[in-house]
This record gives sequence, C-alpha cells and structure tokens, in this order.
Amino acid sequence: MWNLCTLFLAVFVFEKGLAKIPDFIHPCTADNNTCILQSTIDALPEFVRGLPAMGVPTLDPFTIEKLSLPLPGLKASLYNGKMTGFRNLVIDNVESNFKKHKFMMEVHGNLSLKGSYKAHGRVLVMPIDGDGDLKVKMTNFKMKVTINTAVVPDDKGRKHFHAKGYQYTIDYGQVSFNMTNLFKGNPELSNTVLTFINENWRLIADEFGKPVIDFATENVVRSIEKFFLAVPIEELVEGPLPYYD
Ligand SMILES: *[C@@H]1O[C@H](CO)[C@@H](O)[C@H](O)[C@H]1NC(C)=O
Ligand SMILES: *[C@@H]1O[C@H](CO)[C@@H](O)[C@H](O)[C@H]1NC(C)=O
Ligand SMILES: *[C@@H]1O[C@H](CO)[C@@H](O)[C@H](O)[C@H]1NC(C)=O
Repeated sequence: MWNLCTLFLAVFVFEKGLAKIPDFIHPCTADNNTCILQSTIDALPEFVRGLPAMGVPTLDPFTIEKLSLPLPGLKASLYNGKMTGFRNLVIDNVESNFKKHKFMMEVHGNLSLKGSYKAHGRVLVMPIDGDGDLKVKMTNFKMKVTINTAVVPDDKGRKHFHAKGYQYTIDYGQVSFNMTNLFKGNPELSNTVLTFINENWRLIADEFGKPVIDFATENVVRSIEKFFLAVPIEELVEGPLPYYD
C-alpha cells in the first residue's frame, strides 16, 4: 500500500513537474503575430526571474562571473559582472514564420552592467593599465534578433522548438561609462582617460560592446532553448501546426 502511494505520488509529481506549462505562458495559434507579441510581453517579466524547474537561470540580474575580451592591442577581463534591466525591456515587434523557420523579435530599452575589470593595453590611442570597478549604462538601445528555428522530437515523440542559430543587429543608443582606476595609482590620468572614453563612447561601444552583447545574447538564447526543451510545442501552439520540414 505504501509503495502504491509512493508510486502514485511520484507519477503525480513527475507529471506536474515536467508537463505543467507555467501560468504566464499564453498559447497562440501558429504565426499569429498579434497574439505572440502579447504573449511574449506577458511572459518576459516572469521568464527573466528564472524557471529553476526547467533549468532556466535568472536573467535579471544576469550574472557574468568572468568574461575575457579578446581584443587587438588590449588584454581585458570583466569579473563579478551583473547586468540588469532585462525585465523592463520593451518588446516592439515579433514575427513568427513557421515555414521559413524564423522567429524575429525587436526590443528596445535600457541595460546596466556593473562589475570589476582589469585591462592592459590601448583603448583607441589611449594607453591604459587599469584594475577597478566598472559601470556601463546603455540607454535607449534597439536590438533585432532573428532565431533560426527547428522542430525536434524528444524521446517520447513529442515535438519541441529548437534554436539552431541566430543573428542580431544592435543600435547602442547612448552608452556611458564609469570606470575607476583606469591608470593604476594615477587618479588624474584615470579621469582623463575616462573623459576620453565617454567622449568617444560610440567608437568604444563598437569596439568593445560586441563580446559582451554576444555573451548576453548567447545566454538568453540558451535559456529560451531550455524552456523549449521542457515544454513541447503542443503546449505553446494552439491548433494545427503548419507544414514544417
Ligand atoms: C490572433 O490573435 C488575436 C489575439 O489573441 C485574436 O484576436 C485573433 O482572432 C487571432 N487571429 C487568428 C487568425 O487566429
Ligand atoms: C530608458 O531610460 C531613459 C532615460 O532615463 C528613459 O527616458 C526611457 O523611458 C527608458 N526606457 C525604458 C524602456 O525604460
Ligand atoms: C563614477 O563613480 C564614482 C563612484 O564610484 C563617482 O564618485 C563619480 O562621480 C562617477 N563619475 C562619473 C563620471 O559618473
């Protein structure tokens, strides 16, 4: 009797645990972009909180323990980084195209990054030898991400979305930097370099932004993947699926 109870409980918990779709996901019919846009907007603040049962980490704050920036002329790393602001991003548009295996999303908003850094080399023409704190604010940036989707079966034959790859374009909006100790032991030179960096923020963002944005985008897409892996398509898409090869 005890065994039966345990078995029943185990099956019940298993079913609930694996198959239950979170309440904040509102299914849409395939390629109904009006519905998918609203559903994505509704899901964002909850999704970024993380879904531990599905292995989706918290995205706001998004932690960057260590990131080395492989840049010509500069050896730089970011430590103990925290990126915040994902929950307040505005989703402007989505375009789902099942047959073309594409899902496009446009967002805008503000993100901040705080952490520690070490850097040695040159930033544009300025020599730096820094070890300190870093704050970066990205205001009114715009990003468009296109995910190449696929449908893959799991071992029970249920279909899941899969992100095969992605491309993005970004407009940084306005970026401001605050870094301490850009020149070790020389506060005056450090301030001069910081002023120079902020006066040339667009060039700096173009040169140094990509590895950080790549890293963040990769992690967001991987989180979406984990969600897709846990929730079959039939729970996300209402009604029949278009032909998909
Ligand atoms: C698409 O979704 C919207 C909002 O959920 C709904 O009002 C509309 O009827 C749907 N359109 C189709 C073609 O299913
Ligand atoms: C981003 O920050 C700017 C300046 O503080 C503000 O005007 C704008 O409304 C913010 N955007 C969002 C989406 O929160
Ligand atoms: C940078 O941050 C420090 C405190 O960490 C502050 O005293 C300073 O005014 C800030 N500088 C700029 C340019 O924002």
